[in-house]
Amino acid sequence: MGITLQGLGYYVPQDVLSNFDLEKIVDTSDEWITTRTGIKERRIAKNETLIDMAEKASKMALEDAKVDPKDVDAIVFATITPHFSFPASACLLQDRLGCKNGFAFDISAACSGFLYGLEVAKGLIVGGSAKKVLLVGAEKLSEIVNWQDRSTCVLFGDGAGAVLVSSEGEGEILASVMRSDGEAWNILYAEKCGYINMRGRELFKLAVRSMEEVCQQVISTVGLKVEDIDLVIPHQANIRIMEALAEKLGIPMQKVYSNIHKYGNTSAASIPIAMAEAYREGRLKRGYTVLMTAMGAGLTWGATLIRF
Ligand code: UT7
Repeated sequence: MGITLQGLGYYVPQDVLSNFDLEKIVDTSDEWITTRTGIKERRIAKNETLIDMAEKASKMALEDAKVDPKDVDAIVFATITPHFSFPASACLLQDRLGCKNGFAFDISAACSGFLYGLEVAKGLIVGGSAKKVLLVGAEKLSEIVNWQDRSTCVLFGDGAGAVLVSSEGEGEILASVMRSDGEAWNILYAEKCGYINMRGRELFKLAVRSMEEVCQQVISTVGLKVEDIDLVIPHQANIRIMEALAEKLGIPMQKVYSNIHKYGNTSAASIPIAMAEAYREGRLKRGYTVLMTAMGAGLTWGATLIRF
């Protein structure tokens, strides 16, 4: 069964926090942040909630797909910064959008949330529970960042991305591999109502190694060569991770989409924001073979290969 990413949308808050702004808050420099991460600035939701951002991204995706909210069968919302403990952010979004039919729930898989969510959406469609799934990745990470910790506060930003996943259309999910390793949970975590804690250097190496492994697996499952991949949309955690991964896979950086310089790491929102932006810029075109990969807290990681 073909599964198409029929409509794409994204939203980032207006407020920009630059590296120079951060120099005034913690002992850091634009030079350090730029060379170590590739980030120049990030967006901060000062006056907007998670649901406000998700609503704007979702409306753009639904308009792009030309789908009425009442025809959405399920909403899958990937986030690690839910609006309430309960009900699910997906239910709050359902109310805003007027998706009167179907069901809505959240998933928590950190930076892999969008890819895990796509796996769930695929399962719902293949299993016959839904024909149209609104998949959202949205985060308000500024709420769980310790603004006195220079090792983490320079990395993260807020934003939302959304995709209308449909059983109709020409697209296809060619292969996917999802993994997690709960034994390594304490490399990256936030306690309830607490701040982000991260052992960055360790995570860096694991990220490159793990994403390379699952990318190789999906490519070989389908029997493609790396030359057949038109675009790579990786999770935007660090430009050096993306460069190391591309080098290991033998894919030129021209085929790797990155917007990390503008938005930093937006966790579950990063791939759908990048995807929607690439689409609007004409970098992502219908018929393209697209490789997506992510790694984050859990640890969780995965790779998904699609025909867009
Ligand atoms: O999205 C989930 C997945 N996340 C990731 O995959 C993140 C993976 N990790 C990384 O991207 C990188 O490890 C970081 C960007 C987090 C850190 O870069 P690094 O090159 O690994 O730096 P480091 O942690 O080894 O720190 C190097 C130095 C240290 O100083 P000393 O010990 O060498 O004197 C840090 O204290 O840089 C210092 N440092 C900073 N200096 C200025 C750490 N943060 C900063 C900062 N500004 N913001």
